[in-house]
Amino acid sequence: MNFEFSEEQLMIQQAARDYAQRELIKDVTERDAKAEFPANHIKNLGELGFMGMMVDPKYDGGGMDTISYVLAMEELSKVDASVSVIMSVNSSLVCYGLEKFGTEEQKEKYLRPLASGKKIGAFLLSEPEAGSDATSQRTTAEDMGDYYLVNGTKNWITSANSASTYILIAQTHPEKKHKGINALIVDKNSPGISLGPHEDKMGMRSSDTHSVMFTDVKVPKENRIGEDGFGFSFAMKALEAGRIGIASQAVGLASGALERAITYSKERKAFGTVIANHQAVAFKLAEMAVKIENARNLCLKAAWLKDNHKPYGIASAMAKQYAADIAMEVTTEAVQIHGGYGYVKEYHVERLMREAKLTQIYEGTSEIQKIVISRDLLK
Ligand code: CAA
Repeated sequence: MNFEFSEEQLMIQQAARDYAQRELIKDVTERDAKAEFPANHIKNLGELGFMGMMVDPKYDGGGMDTISYVLAMEELSKVDASVSVIMSVNSSLVCYGLEKFGTEEQKEKYLRPLASGKKIGAFLLSEPEAGSDATSQRTTAEDMGDYYLVNGTKNWITSANSASTYILIAQTHPEKKHKGINALIVDKNSPGISLGPHEDKMGMRSSDTHSVMFTDVKVPKENRIGEDGFGFSFAMKALEAGRIGIASQAVGLASGALERAITYSKERKAFGTVIANHQAVAFKLAEMAVKIENARNLCLKAAWLKDNHKPYGIASAMAKQYAADIAMEVTTEAVQIHGGYGYVKEYHVERLMREAKLTQIYEGTSEIQKIVISRDLLK
């Protein structure tokens, strides 16, 4: 066992930390208040090689490993989880799925601009009545010979407006249930696509989330990923990878909150001394640190398994469930340590707490991760 990072991994961690602490921090509160999409930051992160950091350089990706990705996600998420979710959906759901299962032509046409950050991708699985229960897809992709005709509505789509490329999960053969589902690559500008209003979210407010409506949208047959009926397995495989990203995001939210709580508790005085000298506060900090360390190690283990081509679906579900749940606990404790100051925007911890909540919900709720883990234990 080796717990040391390589020079390259440390360099990537430092580059992400520098960008987050120097650039993201400047306007994060304003973007959160205005729910403003971080277009300039996404462009910069693309130029720095973060948007497709794990994609093979032959498709204009960064060629980095998943451990590096975990480290970068943590650093960016300490400051701005809206930016990091756009990166995570693009990298570990969309780019990963295309690179792993797409044809050479699909990779040339769609993966290359997504991996270089010139374009953004979105993953369209959730529906008004199929969120956790993902096999119950109602959006249809009717087989019309040389194209699919798509009708239906997708909900809660991260980057729905800013993305150019959609990976759409839709039902082609309802009688076959989940074995009749397909994954299609769809150009966002295709005729028949319309968006619902920007969702006014509690947290991650500057990532753009919308419903997407499809009315008689024609998608060429060559845009199907994998064999006919592969779509549900594709979605599950993509989510195994995606959940490592969200788990690392949760670790970042928690560690960002802990760093702020440590700084504050060494400055703020009460009862004649800084509050860090009160054991009630110091023990909270210790408990927060242990939880973060555990969550980080789960993320790194899942990443290591993926990098070493071993099954990692259960590890990524464990990392996602644990990291998301402790992110909620740790950010809540950080607000508590800050007292009244924790409840106002200037100290950032209330935003981290709002953002942490979403990590327990998207890419499979904490309860869904427990279904995945317990089924594996009991099989
Ligand atoms: N890899 C490959 N195949 C898998 C799989 C995996 N990890 N997990 C399940 N499958 C297969 C099963 O083997 C089964 O196929 P067979 O019948 O051929 O054996 C099929 O999928 C159906 O599986 P289940 O019988 O287990 O189905 P289920 O309905 O009982 O449960 C579930 C499935 C795990 C709960 C699944 O529906 C799930 O993960 N739901 C959560 C969906 C989710 O994460 N949504 C998030 C939306 S994306 C998002 O948030 C992106 C964003 O913008 C941030």
